[in-house]
Amino acid sequence: MPIKIALTKGRVEQQVVPLLEASGIDCSGIRNKGRRLIFDEDPVYETILVKGPDVLTYLNSGSVHLGIVGSDILAEQNNTQYAMLDLGVGRCRFVLASTGDFDPQQVRRKIIATKYPNITKRYFQSIGEDVEIIRIEGSVELAPLIGLADAIVDITETGTTLRENNLHVYAELQPVSTQLVVNRLALKQYQSEIRTLVENLQKAKLNLGVNE
Ligand code: PRP
Repeated sequence: MPIKIALTKGRVEQQVVPLLEASGIDCSGIRNKGRRLIFDEDPVYETILVKGPDVLTYLNSGSVHLGIVGSDILAEQNNTQYAMLDLGVGRCRFVLASTGDFDPQQVRRKIIATKYPNITKRYFQSIGEDVEIIRIEGSVELAPLIGLADAIVDITETGTTLRENNLHVYAELQPVSTQLVVNRLALKQYQSEIRTLVENLQKAKLNLGVNE
């Protein structure tokens, strides 16, 4: 039976495929995927492509053994599986951002828009502030510009989206990077195979010059 990996499609997929290939995993199917979702070219590892938040759903159910997903999603979903290796790619950071006239000391209870309500709640709890949180699915940067919220909590990688929408960073929250996560039961069942994969990925990171 192959070892099954749920890989986050999109940006994570693009950055992780070179690492998987350098670890000796055949990713030719993923590179020419069309609309396929399951990739069984490699004799040992079968990869499925899913949206980030669904990685943990598959992993928790035991229908896949390994997941590759950003630490933003692990933190938001209160992950209980085992984050085994920081793959060092997909690096970005959580920030509190808003327009130039935002006053972080404003007396009125703040309204914060975000795709990450749990992370936002924890951050404001940690600084002892009570805020109203509005969950947004995407293009969160719009919220303070259109008057839906006072500020946003979101991830930023290059800073381009913030810059091009005239938004400023008011606080740095936590860093984000892509993680290899293992289902706890699978770790017992496939201990040696998973250890080998982790070693190969560590070597691949070194070979490709991925920084810690
Ligand atoms: C993410 C994030 C920012 C953007 C930041 O959105 O929510 O909008 O990337 O990247 P940058 O700092 O390099 O500009 P994503 O592209 O995932 O799309 P979304 O807004 O639809 O969620």
